Amino acid sequence: MKNAIEYPPGPKDVFPYSTAWKFLRDPLNTLNTISQNYGDISYFKFGKLNVYFLNHPNYIEDVLVANHKNFIKSRGLQVSKRLLGSGLLTSEGEYHDKQRQLIQPTFYPNRIRSYAEIMVKKTLNLCHNWKEGTELDIQKEMTHLTLEIICKAVLGYDIKPEDDQIGDSLLTCMNYFNRLLMPFGELIEKIPILSINKGFKTAKENLDAIVFKMINEHRIKLEKNENKENDLLFTLLKSQYDTVEGIQMSDQQLRDEVMTIFLAGYETTANALTWTFYLLSEHPAIDIRLEKEIYSVIDNKLNVSFDDIQKLEYTTKVLTESMRLYPPAWALGRQAINDCKIGKYFIPSGSIILMSQYVMHRNPLYFPEPDAFFPDRWTDEFKKNLPRFSYFPFGGGIRSCVGEPFAWMETILIIAIIDRLWKMNSVSSNKVILKPLATLRPKYGMRLKITRRS
Ligand code: HEM
Repeated sequence: MKNAIEYPPGPKDVFPYSTAWKFLRDPLNTLNTISQNYGDISYFKFGKLNVYFLNHPNYIEDVLVANHKNFIKSRGLQVSKRLLGSGLLTSEGEYHDKQRQLIQPTFYPNRIRSYAEIMVKKTLNLCHNWKEGTELDIQKEMTHLTLEIICKAVLGYDIKPEDDQIGDSLLTCMNYFNRLLMPFGELIEKIPILSINKGFKTAKENLDAIVFKMINEHRIKLEKNENKENDLLFTLLKSQYDTVEGIQMSDQQLRDEVMTIFLAGYETTANALTWTFYLLSEHPAIDIRLEKEIYSVIDNKLNVSFDDIQKLEYTTKVLTESMRLYPPAWALGRQAINDCKIGKYFIPSGSIILMSQYVMHRNPLYFPEPDAFFPDRWTDEFKKNLPRFSYFPFGGGIRSCVGEPFAWMETILIIAIIDRLWKMNSVSSNKVILKPLATLRPKYGMRLKITRRS
């Protein structure tokens, strides 16, 4: 009865695959245009696949929360199991929910507050090496910083500045997965990716060897009660013993979760920071207000801790607004496993559902003057009146970002320390083009000139 299906409005292909090609070439503008032309729910064909693009907070809530059991991540993400195995990002159903139950408490604020020290120390180390008046690729700097922090926080491992296997291998894998982890990998699978296979196998073998070795060492230390550090791997190992049912994660499961947290946990935050510093360089008046707040909270001895975060109210607004304009996770993809309904439309099983933070966060219905960088819009009143899924940088429901508290803590501390010491200045030759891969990054990096605060 296929003919009886009523499809939502959407672009019609003049030539076969024309929408698909537009979408692959420029997903942000294509989705933006589709949302403007066709509204809350639209439909297009991608080869043989039915694609539904949701642009209403209630529909997004339906998929991510109310009816989440009817959707899985797309098959493309399953390809990333080659590296991540069955970690949180790639597993499904009951297995995912059990692992999530086990892992989520390790990210509770009281458990992660001790990582603030690592974050502060690594940021100060980085700033210490910067030279007055130089032009830096801030994206590169932030990627190395967040990589160092995640390695130390998860494994207790200090990346060495030169010749580092973990750092290099993670970067190689991230580049590889930047294609496969795109929110609608189902569609991306159709692109030849052979050239990026290069180097991945070796990088994965290196990482596996290191992570298994670390698991083994951590287990031995824990059994001998010699665990002086408090890294996340220790917390994960301990939490297995704490569970009432006595569920134990095998070394393979631990490896998969550690690898997932690595991959999910550094490029996202690096991009959030990069876009924030870019916006500050373009908006000096906002930077002056931010500097004022940060000076009132952080003294010149640079003593800053977890407890200072709640005092950094304007900093939080700046970051919130930055993730509105440049959400590091810019779209989410799901696949319907059974026939279902969204709004008045019947959705056949196998359909792909797209939801884009980038598009929704710029909807003028919820965000007046949507293209303006305006941190002051984030008043309590404004937040109270905002529909839940009009702003969702960390997703939502059972698959929402488990690292969200870690991410807020890390990004706020890094912004505060860097902004306390350095001013970011725009550079006329800086070419800012958006590159939406697994995360939303600047295509040519982010060149900014740094000058020391007086
Ligand atoms: C600004 C930084 C970050 C952003 C914007 C972000 C965003 C997201 C989003 C949108 C999802 C849901 C994906 C989906 O529904 O398909 C997600 C999942 C996830 N994130 Fe993050 N993330 C960030 C930082 C982190 C950090 C720091 C960690 C770990 C330390 C982390 C670990 C994870 C994991 C493990 C998942 C999978 C959760 C699950 O499926 O149960 N993320 N993230």
